[in-house]
Amino acid sequence: MILVTGGAGFIGSNFILDWLANETAPVLNLDKLTYAGNPGNLTAVEKDARYRFVHGDINDRALVEQLLREHHPSAIVHFAAESHVDRSIHGPGEFVQTNVVGTFNLLEATRAWLGTVSAEEKSRFRFLHVSTDEVYGSLSADSPPATEIFPYVPSSPYSASKAASDHLVRAYCCTYQFPSLITNCSNNYGPRQFPEKLIPLITLNALNMKALPIYGDGLNIRDWLYVGDHCSALRAVLARGRIGETYNVGGNSEKTNLEVVKTLCNIVDELRPAASPRASLLNFVKDRPGHDRRYALDAGKLARELGWEPQEKFESGLRKTVSWYLDNPQWVEEVVSGGYRNWLDTNYAAR
Ligand code: NAD
Ligand code: DAU
Repeated sequence: MILVTGGAGFIGSNFILDWLANETAPVLNLDKLTYAGNPGNLTAVEKDARYRFVHGDINDRALVEQLLREHHPSAIVHFAAESHVDRSIHGPGEFVQTNVVGTFNLLEATRAWLGTVSAEEKSRFRFLHVSTDEVYGSLSADSPPATEIFPYVPSSPYSASKAASDHLVRAYCCTYQFPSLITNCSNNYGPRQFPEKLIPLITLNALNMKALPIYGDGLNIRDWLYVGDHCSALRAVLARGRIGETYNVGGNSEKTNLEVVKTLCNIVDELRPAASPRASLLNFVKDRPGHDRRYALDAGKLARELGWEPQEKFESGLRKTVSWYLDNPQWVEEVVSGGYRNWLDTNYAAR
């Protein structure tokens, strides 16, 4: 079996659904269920005998050690994190606690457990740390996309905490021969993403004819990766990646935020026609402090070594995503009630 951390979140839940559809090994999902964790993301596999959920914190060392001793996973796929840049600006402490200390705790518990298993079991085990392109910092317009050997220049408390966790994982591999791999991926989008992030936020606001907040001039660039492509990349790295290596996972889809939002407006107008075009709802608001201008990834290593390339085109992936939100009003309603409302006040009231 494999142990997934943070599997009730956006990418983790898509990964578990994808894994159970394509692989035979069972999945144990350890998730603290923060505001971002939603067991409703996994109702499709609740009754699958190969899926088990454990409500817990990666910072609970005794619990992690107990799970390792009981289940002897052949891999850990580590998604658990605080993931939203704006939240890290409002409150960085939780990001250090989960992303840095939590990853350290997981590494220590796993290292201790690996010391007790046979050489054969240890040689099969993999620790896959899921990280971000944000660690490479903001690229200039004329910079080539970041390769795996680009320097780390994080700009937000979120990206700094992810960078710190990457350094720890790499150091464990060098120092303790800890069998880890790191992936750094670009902006994911797709079903089940919490509507604090750009694409689901704009989709739901557009559907409800609400203002569409654009930070700054809207010309910041992100590389968009369909979450299904990310999941297939992670399976490839787990199966065939080289221990100690880092693999960039990119979507070959650099867009300005304005391009993304205008494309979304067109799709929503087409699927749910309204009296006025959604593009009239664009609202330029105060910029994010330290807002990185451009992220871009060179995923050539993954293509050359493991034969992986993204399959989804941005326009078709975006269409699938909008359709998913339209087809799942109950999921939306449950997520939009509660803590999410408080977040909207915190982030947008003074903008
Ligand atoms: P998310 O915020 O949707 O989900 C995070 C999950 O982790 C939630 O289920 C939450 O309950 C859980 N969690 C948080 N703290 C925990 C703790 N202490 N113990 C156990 N579980 C805990 O995040 P996501 O967007 O799915 O991102 C997953 C991973 O991928 C993160 O590590 C993130 O840094 C990385 N990443 C995300 C993106 C993206 O575009 N979303 C891009 C690059 C990298
Ligand atoms: O690049 C990978 C990263 O992508 C991940 O590591 C993070 O976990 C993930 O949250 C994401 O970070 P971003 O900051 O790029 O994503 P977000 O959806 O928050 O914002 C995307 C862009 O849109 C960014 O330039 C800020 C802008 N934006 C965002 C929001 C929420 C707006 O203009 N308006 C908004 O309301």
